[in-house]
Amino acid sequence: MAVVNDPTVEKRRSLPMLGVRSLVPTRVSAGPPPRSVRVSVTDRCDFACTYCRPSRNDGYADGRLMTPAWKTMFEALRRAGVRRVRLTGGEPLVHPEIVAIVAHLSSLGFEDLALTTNASQLARLARPLRDAGLHRVNVSIDTLDPVRFREVTRGGDLDAVLAGIDAAIEAGFSPIKLNTVVLRGVNENELERILLWAWEKRLLPRFLEVMPIAEGAKLVADHLVTAAEMRRALDAHLLPEEAVTDPGLGPAKYVHARHDPALRVGFITGTSDTFCETCDRLRVSSTGVLRPCLATDDGVDAGAPARAGDAEAIVEQIGLAWSMKPDGTIWKGCTEETAAGVSMRAIGG
Ligand code: 5AD
Ligand code: SF4
Repeated sequence: MAVVNDPTVEKRRSLPMLGVRSLVPTRVSAGPPPRSVRVSVTDRCDFACTYCRPSRNDGYADGRLMTPAWKTMFEALRRAGVRRVRLTGGEPLVHPEIVAIVAHLSSLGFEDLALTTNASQLARLARPLRDAGLHRVNVSIDTLDPVRFREVTRGGDLDAVLAGIDAAIEAGFSPIKLNTVVLRGVNENELERILLWAWEKRLLPRFLEVMPIAEGAKLVADHLVTAAEMRRALDAHLLPEEAVTDPGLGPAKYVHARHDPALRVGFITGTSDTFCETCDRLRVSSTGVLRPCLATDDGVDAGAPARAGDAEAIVEQIGLAWSMKPDGTIWKGCTEETAAGVSMRAIGG
């Protein structure tokens, strides 16, 4: 494969299979293989959140992988040493074969098998997904106001999402984490309400800074609320302690509730601070491109071997994609210029 891979810190790279040129500092040594992978099983979504998509009619990628190709991809990820898989989208639950995909992943014995969803279809699918072997779900929910919900998602139905969350609780998923992207002038006045509602249901709320990636790039200047501000707004309910990550489980930093040490809230600072240094994630796009970073379009296209059933070839490509991982001591993730041009849906958040 014709990918230049010289081990210097700063270099210009050209990936003929993607027609992409970029200037990204890569790690001198790629280190151990990726432990954690996020897979965009489909770039389709039944919502069009304002920070993610420009409209409902923005079109979808050609050449998405079909289920047999996904199975080859998952086998390759397992062989390459991946331990944790998260299915994302777009919206993974609009994939007609999502339950079969989860069952297949479950049969491969990953340590952790999770899914991020907007929950519009979760009322129907929580139980079948649990039975198919899914370990955990994260739900995106930005507001508890039905009119605002319709606006932010461009047409989403809050009641369906709430029913989906209840179905996930009922099916026994635990912990259920929530993602709320906080936007000034939109939902910043709802933080306390969401926090208390989530705790009441024993859910784990997390508040995200809007990141200057994809459509979010247009919102940061006017609508960014920093994690520090969010925390101040919730101070009365939180222990005065340093926020800390769950090691190996992503960038969210958690703080305990004042009144109950079993409850926590998370903050994700994708904009005021970045966390590339500890990032161990590889991403797989809906068309089978292996992408070492959320904030660039760089990657290795493994669609052809996936369709051909050639897991060994993909294992090799995973190593190559991993060697392109940006150097997190220099690289500033979603605040880099390349991030605005990336499609969030195609690469799984
Ligand atoms: N900034 C912050 N979060 C975003 N998400 C999607 N786009 C952005 C953005 N620009 C979130 C979704 C979902 C998660 C996978 O990523 O709300 O919860
Ligand atoms: Fe769909 Fe998630 Fe993007 Fe919203 S953020 S449009 S739910 S993929």
